[in-house]
Amino acid sequence: MIDLHCHILPGLDDGPGTLVQSVEMARMAADDGITRIVATPHIVDDQLSMKEVGKSVVKLNRALKHQQVPVEIIPGGETASALDPSISGDFVIANTRYLLLEFPHTHLPQTARETLFRIRKMGVTPIICHPERNPSIVDNPGLLLDLLDGDVLVQITAGSLTGQFGRDARQCARYLLKKGVVTVMASDGHETRDRKPVLSAGVKAAARILGQEKAMALVKTNPAAIIQGKRIYQCQ
Ligand SMILES: [Fe+2]
Repeated sequence: MIDLHCHILPGLDDGPGTLVQSVEMARMAADDGITRIVATPHIVDDQLSMKEVGKSVVKLNRALKHQQVPVEIIPGGETASALDPSISGDFVIANTRYLLLEFPHTHLPQTARETLFRIRKMGVTPIICHPERNPSIVDNPGLLLDLLDGDVLVQITAGSLTGQFGRDARQCARYLLKKGVVTVMASDGHETRDRKPVLSAGVKAAARILGQEKAMALVKTNPAAIIQGKRIYQCQ
């Protein structure tokens, strides 16, 4: 499996504080059947550069190889929607034209459509992170559906489907899956206790709704296509 959204780099955000903890996370992911992880530190301003992310990725990959943890880390970022696309655009996944975009946890901004438009204008495809955890979208999933077309993708969090983020997030994630608008399921892992870098429990829950094959596509073929920069459409 491929985890497209995980805070695994040490000391860059609210993820692990040390390289040792990053390696522990990767080991847990490997045990869960994950072979590749896109490192997606929070990008909220212009303090962190993609070059620094890349350096940290190289360092972690070296440590994983040395400690024989069979996981490859790939550079990316989780970019805040308030950030100007001229800055967030640097943090595309694996040098492709795909960008993880996070709206505030409190609401869906009025400017959401404009933000998506500006990103797409740069030839970049936005992937909206965990909309099922956004209260405006939980209240009215139609707000999200209105923003989607073939060039705006959706990523849900595995833990939402297993109830980790409460009943509302679970219900919303299930609704979006049934609607067929989810392209990727990722861990959004932060550490090894509460926000674990794992996917298999989420796949199990998704399979009860979509069937095994479509559930696996959310963590395998779809993220694989994204990190290879292949064209992908919203409904798979
Ligand atoms: Fe995240």
